[in-house]
Amino acid sequence: MSRETLTIIDNRTGKSYEIPITHDTVRALDLRQIKVQEGDFGLMSYDPAFTNTALCHSRVTFIDGDAGILRYRGYPIEVLAERSTYLETAYLILRGELPTRAQLEEWTYHISHHTFIHESIKKFLDGFHYDAHPMGMMISTMAALSTFYPDAKDIFNAASRLKQTWRLIGKMPTLAAFAYRHSLGMPYAYPDNELSYAGNFLNMLFKTTELQYRPNPTLERALDILFILHADHEQNCSANAMRNVGSSHVDPYSATAAATAALYGPLHGGANEAVLRMLLEIGAVARVPEYIQRVKAGEKRLMGFGHRIYKNYDPRATIIKRIAHEVFEVMGRNPLLEIALECERIALEDDYFVKRKLYPNVDFYSGLIYQSMGFPVSMFPVLFAIPRTAGWIAQWEEMLLDGEQKIARPRQVYLGQDQRAYVPIEQRSYFTLAASPIRSSRPSTKHAPGTQFV
Ligand code: CMC
Repeated sequence: MSRETLTIIDNRTGKSYEIPITHDTVRALDLRQIKVQEGDFGLMSYDPAFTNTALCHSRVTFIDGDAGILRYRGYPIEVLAERSTYLETAYLILRGELPTRAQLEEWTYHISHHTFIHESIKKFLDGFHYDAHPMGMMISTMAALSTFYPDAKDIFNAASRLKQTWRLIGKMPTLAAFAYRHSLGMPYAYPDNELSYAGNFLNMLFKTTELQYRPNPTLERALDILFILHADHEQNCSANAMRNVGSSHVDPYSATAAATAALYGPLHGGANEAVLRMLLEIGAVARVPEYIQRVKAGEKRLMGFGHRIYKNYDPRATIIKRIAHEVFEVMGRNPLLEIALECERIALEDDYFVKRKLYPNVDFYSGLIYQSMGFPVSMFPVLFAIPRTAGWIAQWEEMLLDGEQKIARPRQVYLGQDQRAYVPIEQRSYFTLAASPIRSSRPSTKHAPGTQFV
């Protein structure tokens, strides 16, 4: 019978080690017994960007990137998008089971009764310049919420965590809508508890002089489905930020501000914004082949394509493509759609993309829907952050309650200078590093290493 172990022979010493395998995983700490001499630190594993490192045991979200499968707590994303609502899905993600009718009513009641924000938050928002990016405003005001709710520091109290959960899910759309209204110089529209979660968000964004705002049901449902699709995605960059920062036992508002900041980047939640800007830059279907050539030459990235985990069509993109057509029936066809379809058509046939398994991801079509619904491009990452809050809290809570977790503190392989003598300022001179190890801030493009001055 096969043994669930791994045998390692250290060729430096000839010694052999047997390490247990659990769930197709070895524990990195088991490598530390591998030493040349007794006083050595022991072997470490080197894994920049965690491409092959499991950070935790999780029971929230399952992804099979090769098969294009995404499930929350065992339920396929396609079924949830078809039959569920965002608030019901958020309950599932956070509590582990779909709610009964009574549980859903109670959950909805608590979240909709935590949608208001302190009037002082409005003063913070007023301090931002009219063209401040809404993600910057979200990050800042989210961090500010921690000062309004000092009870949130009681992170090992389940009742307190639940209250912060209602507040976070409830207030996120309000912060987002107020940031948007601030950029327009419009008065803030307050939450309306008569409306659904997505409907109320549309109300706070777009209400003008009507006594009661009535969202278009197709757009309201489309937004709710988009929220379901974005609710969690296991150990992505922002979930990792949430866990990492939360592992210091800071309050959940501060950790959520960190997660929101992680989401802001163009390689993560900022990609939907980047897709729209790319489609605008391409400008016409006839110019798509030229743009694809530039991507293949390493000058550009085809934004909204590729994924660390999915090496197949992102299942969320399939659903979003369908919703896009429903939204376009109400709002009219987005002229950028033709450019997007041409990019997809060429890329799916082109060897460069096929060989690297680069397929459309969630962000490729979502921006077109958001734009058709009237959102400015800068609001796109915000529309990702609102629903992802449920996933962030679930990841955070799972981390807190996991007896194996500690403050996140990776190791490094130090390759810098050994100890050296201090150089007085009058004896220092500039010198160049021809082949500097310092990386460009643009990992997407291939480039000659530049000269760095130190
Ligand atoms: N366009 C052109 N080439 C690409 C792209 C792209 N969008 N994505 C990856 N590649 C190439 C890359 O140059 C590399 O080629 P080579 O092997 O010749 O060096 C190869 O494919 C592997 O890429 P990678 O950068 O090592 O892959 P990764 O797993 O580190 O990056 C990614 C994943 C999502 C950051 C990347 O695919 C990307 O930058 N995509 C565009 C941004 C984007 O759409 N992000 C949204 C992700 S989905 C929403 C979310 O979860 O946040």
